[in-house]
Amino acid sequence: MTRDDLFNINAGIVRTLSEAIAKCCPNAIVNVISNPVNSTVPIAAEVFKKAGTFDPKKLLGVTMLDVVRANTFVAEVLGLDPRDVNVPVVGGHAGVTILPLLSQVKPPCSFTPKEVDYLTDRIQNGGTEVVEAKAGAGSATLSMAYAAVKFADACLRGLRGDASVVECAFVASQVTELPFFASKVRLGRTGVEEIYPLGPLNEYERAGLERAKKELESSIQKGVSFVRK
Ligand SMILES: NC(=O)c1ccc[n+]([C@@H]2O[C@H](COP(=O)([O-])OP(=O)(O)OC[C@H]3O[C@@H](n4cnc5c(N)ncnc54)[C@H](O)[C@@H]3O)[C@@H](O)[C@H]2O)c1
Repeated sequence: MTRDDLFNINAGIVRTLSEAIAKCCPNAIVNVISNPVNSTVPIAAEVFKKAGTFDPKKLLGVTMLDVVRANTFVAEVLGLDPRDVNVPVVGGHAGVTILPLLSQVKPPCSFTPKEVDYLTDRIQNGGTEVVEAKAGAGSATLSMAYAAVKFADACLRGLRGDASVVECAFVASQVTELPFFASKVRLGRTGVEEIYPLGPLNEYERAGLERAKKELESSIQKGVSFVRK
């Protein structure tokens, strides 16, 4: 089952939960992890708009698992500890919409074209790799829980007032012409306090960005239409 196959099951669940959030805790910072995140975040936004409670700073799609995977796979190639590696992953949370910016890895490093292909493919298809390894017995669970905790913890540190809490998340954004996009954001007392631009992309990443935007556009529209229909 792909993340998109999950749409019909999860779209209704996310709509119902979002209606409850709008009613019971309209000021909550909401982390949406249910897939397909590229559509479920727009679904939640539409529900909140209808209810008059939409605050774009407080609705975040969780793409942390892509960053965790990217840090792990890049660290393997570089022979480093994943905790010392930071790979910005932008776009969205499915297939080609997952766009690792390997030219912006910290610590600064470079990769051969073969390594870039290998890493991009492995990061984009990490979810499928897990599904295949489990041979039909499920999808990522422990890594997803790890990513969820890591992201929720970052949101809580922001709420507490810690400075410079920066993570990637799928949010309402003006970084591209699309209404939602994942990129680095700074988390603070009011939720998303700053959305960072993508920074300089190389030719490989620019081509990936175009592919990502095309798919993202239809996934976002699918979510919006689900609530507006
Ligand atoms: N964003 C990510 O990085 C990421 C990674 C992995 C999985 N996921 C997504 O997370 C979600 C959960 O995955 P899982 O493996 O834990 O699934 P799961 O089937 O193990 O657990 C789903 C839980 O949701 C509960 N549930 C079902 N309908 C509900 C409803 N209407 N209201 C409230 N709760 C309801 C079920 O009882 C169950 O406990 C899925 O949408 C999956 O695609 C996201």
